[in-house]
Amino acid sequence: MKGLILSGGKGTRLRPITFTQAKQLVPVANKPVLFYGIEALIEAGIKDIGIVVGDTKREIEEAVGRGERWGKDVKITYIEQEAPLGLAHAVLVAESFLGEEEFVMYLGDNILKSGITSLVQEFRERKPNALILLTEVPNPQMFGVAELCDGRVVRLVEKPKVPPSNLALVGVYMFDHHIFEAARSIKPSWRGELEITDAIQFLIEKGYEVIPHMVSGWWKDTGKIEDILEANRLILEDISGRIEGQVDADSRVNGQVIIEKGTKIINSVIRGPAIIGEDCEIINCYIGPYTSIQRKCRLLGTEIEHSIVLEASEIIDIGSRIDESLIGREVKIYKCPPRPLVYRFMVGDKSEIGLK
Ligand code: G1P
Repeated sequence: MKGLILSGGKGTRLRPITFTQAKQLVPVANKPVLFYGIEALIEAGIKDIGIVVGDTKREIEEAVGRGERWGKDVKITYIEQEAPLGLAHAVLVAESFLGEEEFVMYLGDNILKSGITSLVQEFRERKPNALILLTEVPNPQMFGVAELCDGRVVRLVEKPKVPPSNLALVGVYMFDHHIFEAARSIKPSWRGELEITDAIQFLIEKGYEVIPHMVSGWWKDTGKIEDILEANRLILEDISGRIEGQVDADSRVNGQVIIEKGTKIINSVIRGPAIIGEDCEIINCYIGPYTSIQRKCRLLGTEIEHSIVLEASEIIDIGSRIDESLIGREVKIYKCPPRPLVYRFMVGDKSEIGLK
């Protein structure tokens, strides 16, 4: 069985961060979103993995490599998709890599708490033509939606205005080779894409077996800032603390906190769950729960919580608290009085903000 991870797309819903960075590389608890998918496949025993890439090919290859970091038997192959023409189009682009083998298709911006081992097992045992993952959501019109009857999938619709149910298609699918015939038979949707949802609907209409599998545990499609922050919160909730950096006697670290090596915490309070990457300086700060700070950041006189700060950023003497924010790489934030009580930021890489 092979793995296919889709990591193309423009990430328009995460601009301005995605003007300079692939959305699949945005870190959640200091690890790129894409790595969660790769690790879920490996954990399920799938080590021959193709990654479909688009405009951000170079960046993704640089971050992921050939798979060595996950072990000698993990092999990663890059497959180029010349334009983001849909998920079913990506499957066709990967046809020569996949051949006749069954495969798991995993959307590179999805994170599933419970991994995929149980569904891979179910697919192996029941040998359907396709297996789809479903979960109840409050806003089904934002997703592909499934209609079930007596536990069977009878209809799938992509982003319906009037959803037939609240069961969203999660971005993890399992297929045998019949999906190629389906992807070749469908027409582009209103958004100009060959939708995987339509290809699976084709399988259903042709009488192929498509079985549903309900997600246990949480699932996040990290396409928007709220979802990234929520995924960050959910992942941090499960971490175990470890301190490899230096914490001085005037600082307090409570709860589950990871402080990586080379980092200095001076006269600060860190309240977990939180993670602070390598080579940071945290001086006179309050770092609150659900905060991830990547390597090489400098925070001085700052209060921050429920936020993500990307590498090599500086936040100096803001005075007010930063909350629910996603701050890009090499950002500089400093204050010019007078100031409001709370700031909320969505700031792209290399920004410079002088606050009044
Ligand atoms: C895609 C699929 C949709 C699915 C979603 C899950 O949507 O088309 O059916 O529910 O992923 O993340 P997109 O992210 O392309 O809008």
